[in-house]
Amino acid sequence: MDKKNLFELRKEFLKRELSEETISNSPFEQFETWFSEAQKLDEMEANTMYLATCSADGHPNVRTVLLKEYSSNGFIFYTNYKSRKGKELDENPNATLLFYWKELERQVRIEGITEKVSMEESENYFKSRPFESRVAAVVSEQSKVISSREVLNKKFEELKIKFADGNVPKPDSWGGYILRPSMIEFWQGRESRLHDRILFTKKGNEWITERLSP
Ligand SMILES: Cc1cc2nc3c(=O)[nH]c(=O)nc-3n(C[C@H](O)[C@H](O)[C@H](O)COP(=O)(O)O)c2cc1C
Repeated sequence: MDKKNLFELRKEFLKRELSEETISNSPFEQFETWFSEAQKLDEMEANTMYLATCSADGHPNVRTVLLKEYSSNGFIFYTNYKSRKGKELDENPNATLLFYWKELERQVRIEGITEKVSMEESENYFKSRPFESRVAAVVSEQSKVISSREVLNKKFEELKIKFADGNVPKPDSWGGYILRPSMIEFWQGRESRLHDRILFTKKGNEWITERLSP
């Protein structure tokens, strides 16, 4: 393929600003403010985030997951513990979450340590999922190689019949992780690439804030 250059693709960020005067003292409250603003614009996708992991031998990886709960304890997503990300988090629980809310010209980066949520918490969320999603969680050995799409479809149809009473047991390998943050950075796009970046870092039980150069 010929070389394609995208040099002329540029966008100015002009809509908003982030300042020490208006930012909350708590990164969680600030997250809540920005998250609800993002939800108002795009209710279905504001919780889309990118999860970066790193294997024990130093190979980074990233993929999209959905934020399912947050509080000042941390940020929760659900997955398969035996997936590639599950294995990477077992080896190295350090991870980063990233949100990009395009319409608001905002990015939030959350760095911390992950741990599995309790089985009970995973059960509760699992039960709240639609029937088909619960069956799919049983069908999918996430990140494993499969021989064909048909194998997946066949297993799905069989299990829909098996669990026709609606009672789908949560697989042991399926559950949540909570990422407990040590750093949260808020980025607001500004004109001429002079963006606002405010970093919260946890020191003991306190959060300190610093402005970073764009
Ligand atoms: C919009 C979107 C949302 C997704 N949400 C999740 C999720 O919440 N949990 C999950 O395990 N995978 C989710 N995925 C699939 C992951 O990106 C990924 O393909 C999968 O988890 C396997 O990743 P791994 O091989 O690194 O473990 C989502 C993908 C997209 C595009």
